[in-house]
Amino acid sequence: MERLQKVIAMYGDYSRRKAEELIVKGKVLVNGKVVSELGTKVKSSDVIVVNGDVLDKNINFEYYLLNKPREVVTTTKDEHGRKTVIDLIDTQMRIYPVGRLDYDTTGLLLLTNDGVLANKLMHPSSKIDKVYIAKVKGKVLASDVKKLRQGVIIDGRKTSRCIVKIKKYNKKSNTTIVKLTIHEGRNHQVKKMFMALGYEVIKLKREKYANLDLRGLKVGEYRRLTYKEVTTLYSLVK
Ligand code: URA
Repeated sequence: MERLQKVIAMYGDYSRRKAEELIVKGKVLVNGKVVSELGTKVKSSDVIVVNGDVLDKNINFEYYLLNKPREVVTTTKDEHGRKTVIDLIDTQMRIYPVGRLDYDTTGLLLLTNDGVLANKLMHPSSKIDKVYIAKVKGKVLASDVKKLRQGVIIDGRKTSRCIVKIKKYNKKSNTTIVKLTIHEGRNHQVKKMFMALGYEVIKLKREKYANLDLRGLKVGEYRRLTYKEVTTLYSLVK
């Protein structure tokens, strides 16, 4: 037996919150009867209808790891007709990205139609490690590295402690390569962290996400996750 909203989020194209909203609004039927109580338990043989559509519980989950190129948006559709990360993946399933990378950010992005795992990974409490390599204009001072590690104020709130290492300073181009490991996923977080100290990020790449890295994938390439990788992700968000 599983909670109704969890089952709807797992098999339907809905977030857990949207599933709850639909239940409360009386848009969900279980075996022909409206169920508007959150937390109702359902079994696998129950027929669930959401917004008039029977929930298909035989859906296969797909998990992809993409090395996102620049100039691709991390959404399922773009109102300006720009290329999206979904356009890069050959599948019939309605997959969506787990979190976001900016238009000009490259690197590791997960995509899936497994709403439960995606929501758990994106939830702030999951504290998934994400490793970024940032190319920053100017020479990043050691005192500023310390500030970044301890947290800086962005959008009125301090960032969590994180790992920050200077990889290289290039005198000729006057740029610094910095590696950051953060577990939050706030909007434009890395760029804003540097901006808070007066620096500009001119290139950004996500190298790692939880147990996953980009080994073997050129920019624009993708692969399916292995069963083991998926179970490890589940174990990290338990
Ligand atoms: N932080 C950013 O500023 N941009 C990204 O794309 C990811 C993290």
